[in-house]
Amino acid sequence: MEELYLQWPDRTRLQINSWDKVRVEVKPRSIVFCGMGGSGVIGDYVYMLSYTVKDYPPVIVVKDYLLPEFINSNDLVFIVSYSGNTLETLSCFYKALAKTRNIVVIASNGRLIEEAEDKGIPYKTIPLNLMPRTALPDMLYAVLGVLDSSGLSLVSLEDAVKALEFLASNTKQAVEEAKIIAEHLYDRIPVVVTTSRFYGLGFRAKNEFNENSKVPVKVEILPEWGHNDIVGWEYNGRYPWSILTIHGVNDSVSELLMEFTENYYKQIGLPVKPLILSGNNMLEKLLYGSLVVGLASVYLARMYKRNPAETKSIVQYKNMLHKISHELIKPR
Ligand code: F6R
Repeated sequence: MEELYLQWPDRTRLQINSWDKVRVEVKPRSIVFCGMGGSGVIGDYVYMLSYTVKDYPPVIVVKDYLLPEFINSNDLVFIVSYSGNTLETLSCFYKALAKTRNIVVIASNGRLIEEAEDKGIPYKTIPLNLMPRTALPDMLYAVLGVLDSSGLSLVSLEDAVKALEFLASNTKQAVEEAKIIAEHLYDRIPVVVTTSRFYGLGFRAKNEFNENSKVPVKVEILPEWGHNDIVGWEYNGRYPWSILTIHGVNDSVSELLMEFTENYYKQIGLPVKPLILSGNNMLEKLLYGSLVVGLASVYLARMYKRNPAETKSIVQYKNMLHKISHELIKPR
C-alpha cells in the first residue's frame, strides 16, 4: 500500500501525457463536481485551487445522490468515480444527463465508462488496480487537464509538471514527516486542525486515517472553530486526543489563528504536532500534504497491525446500497 503512494510522482505522468485529451466548449456559469469518498475529494481540491482565482466560475462540490436543482445546461458537471460504479455518483450522472450535455466523466472502468461511451459523453480514464484513495493525483490531474484545455485553467501544464518534480524531490522528507505524525497519533484519537483555505486537506487527512488506519477522527476548521468547537473542549481535555495542525497559508492572520489554537490545546494538556506544508504554490502544498497524511495513515495502520488496504465496512455499506439501487438509480 505504501508503494501506491510513493509512486505518485511517476504514475501521475500518465495524466500529463493525456492532459488535453478532453476539451469542452462551454463558458460555464458554475462547475459542479459529483463524487464520493476518495473520488469526492477531487471536488474539494478544485474548490481550494479556485478560491483565489479572480472571475473563476463558482465550484460546487456534491457528495450526494441528488444534484442541486439549480443545475441546467449553463453548468459544467464532472462525474468522478474511481471504480465507475459508485451508486450515489451514478445517480448524479443520470440526473445531470437529464439537464445538460456539459458532462465529463473521470473513472478507471465500470458502468460510468460504459454509459459515457454509449451516450457520447467525454471521459478520461485512470489506471486500473489502484485503490480509489491512492489515485488522488491521477484523478486530480485528469480534471486539471480538462479545465486547462477548455479555457478554464487553474493549473498550467508546465506547473503541473513542476509540481510532480517537486513531489519527487520531497518524497523522502514526506516519509520522515509521516513517520513522526504516525507516532504522534498512535493510541490516541486524532484531531486534524487547519484553516478554511485547506479544509479539503483536513477532511482528506480524516478520510485517510479512517480508511487506512481504521480510527475515528475529528476535523476542525479555523476560523469557524473559534465560534463553536472551542467551547466543546472546555471539559474534554482529559480524553486521549492528539492534535495534528496543518499550516498552509503564510499570511499573518492565519498564523496568529493557528498559534492561538495550538496554545489553547496545549493548555488543556493535549499533544500538538504541526505539519508545515512544503511547496511553492497551492497545488504543490496540497500534493505534499496529501502524500504526508496518506503515508502517515499507512504507518499508523502498521503500528496497530491493521491491513490498510481492507475497508470491510465500506463494502458492507455498498452492499446495502445495491439492495436499494432501484430507488437510487433511474437511467434515462
Ligand atoms: C476507497 C475509497 C473510498 C471510495 C468511495 C467511492 O479507496 O477511498 O472512499 O473512493 O467508496 O468509490 P469510488 O471512488 O470508486 O467512486
